[in-house]
Amino acid sequence: MDNKIVLLGGRGMLGTEVAELFSDADIKVFDLPDFDITNENHLSSVLTDCDIVINCSAFTDVEKAESQQDMAFKVNAKAVGSLAKIAHQKNIYVIHISTDFVFDGNKAGTYAETDLPKPINVYGQSKLAGEKLLAQYHNFYSIIRLQWTYGKNGNNFISKLISLSKQKSILKVVNDQFGSPTSTKETAKVIKEFVAKKPSGLFHYAAAGRASRYDIAKFAFEKLKIKTELVACKTSEFKTAAQRPLNSCFCCDKMQAVLAEPIEPWQNPLGKFLETT
Ligand SMILES: NC(=O)c1ccc[n+]([C@@H]2O[C@H](COP(=O)([O-])OP(=O)(O)OC[C@H]3O[C@@H](n4cnc5c(N)ncnc54)[C@H](OP(=O)(O)O)[C@@H]3O)[C@@H](O)[C@H]2O)c1
Repeated sequence: MDNKIVLLGGRGMLGTEVAELFSDADIKVFDLPDFDITNENHLSSVLTDCDIVINCSAFTDVEKAESQQDMAFKVNAKAVGSLAKIAHQKNIYVIHISTDFVFDGNKAGTYAETDLPKPINVYGQSKLAGEKLLAQYHNFYSIIRLQWTYGKNGNNFISKLISLSKQKSILKVVNDQFGSPTSTKETAKVIKEFVAKKPSGLFHYAAAGRASRYDIAKFAFEKLKIKTELVACKTSEFKTAAQRPLNSCFCCDKMQAVLAEPIEPWQNPLGKFLETT
C-alpha cells in the first residue's frame, strides 16, 4: 500500500521541489497562509490519515531571527515539539529538516552527526532546540541537516549572486566560509529514499566536496559567462546581525550508507542548475 504523506512548508524553496517530485504520490501539501505550524489545531487537523510527515517549514531568515527570537523559536522549536507529540500518538514517521547552523564552524575537519552542536546565532539555536524536542517526544523520525541549499524556487546564495551581478561591475565575496552548495532537487531525491526506507536518527547531507563562497561564485560566473569582477574578502568585512559559521563542511558517510547512488560533487548539480537559469 502507498504511503500517505503530509508535506509541511510545501511552498518554500525545498518544499516546492519535494512537492514536484512526489506529484504522483498520495501527498497533501500545506504552508502559510492557510496552514500555520505554530497553531496546534492546524497541526492536529492536517496530521490525520497519514503515515509520513515531511517538515520543510521553518523560519529561515537568519538575519531577522536575531531580532525576532520569539517567532524563530515558535516555528523552529516549539511547533516541532507539538508535531512530535502528535506524530508519536499516531505512529507517524517524521522526516524533519535541519541545518549546519547548529555548529559554530570552528572545527578543522568535517562535521559528523556525533559532533557536539554549538550554534552561534538565534536561527541555529532555534533549529537545534527543534531537533531536541523532536527527539524528546518521538522515536520514529529522521532529521536531515542540510547546508547552503539552492533551487529554482527560492532566495539563495546563487540567485543573489546572479541578481547582484546585474547591478554591479565588481562584487566582493567571502573566501573564508567553507561548505558545499547543495541542490534542493537532489535533496528532494534523498527525501524520497527516506520515505521508502524510513531510516531513524540524525543525518548530514550536502553535495560532495568543499568550496568557499568565493569559489562557488567564480564557478557560477564562469559557467554563465558573467563579466562582473569577483573580489575575495573576509567575513569580518561584512556587518551582519547574525554570526555565520566559517566551516559548514559535513561528513556524509552515514547518509551515503542509506543512499543507493553516490553523492555527486557539488559542481555537477550546480552546473546543471546554472544551465537552466
Ligand atoms: N536555505 C538554506 O540554505 C538551508 C540550509 C540548511 C537548512 N535549511 C533548512 O531547510 C528547510 C527548508 O528551508 P527552505 O530553504 O526551503 O526555506 P524557505 O523557502 O524559507 O521555506 C520555508 C517554508 O516554511 C514556511 N513557513 C514559515 N513559517 C511557517 C509557519 N508558521 N507555518 C507554516 N509554514 C511556515 C515558509 O513560508 P513563508 O515563505 O510564507 O514564510 C516557507 O514556505 C528548513 O528546515 C531550513 O531550516 C535551509
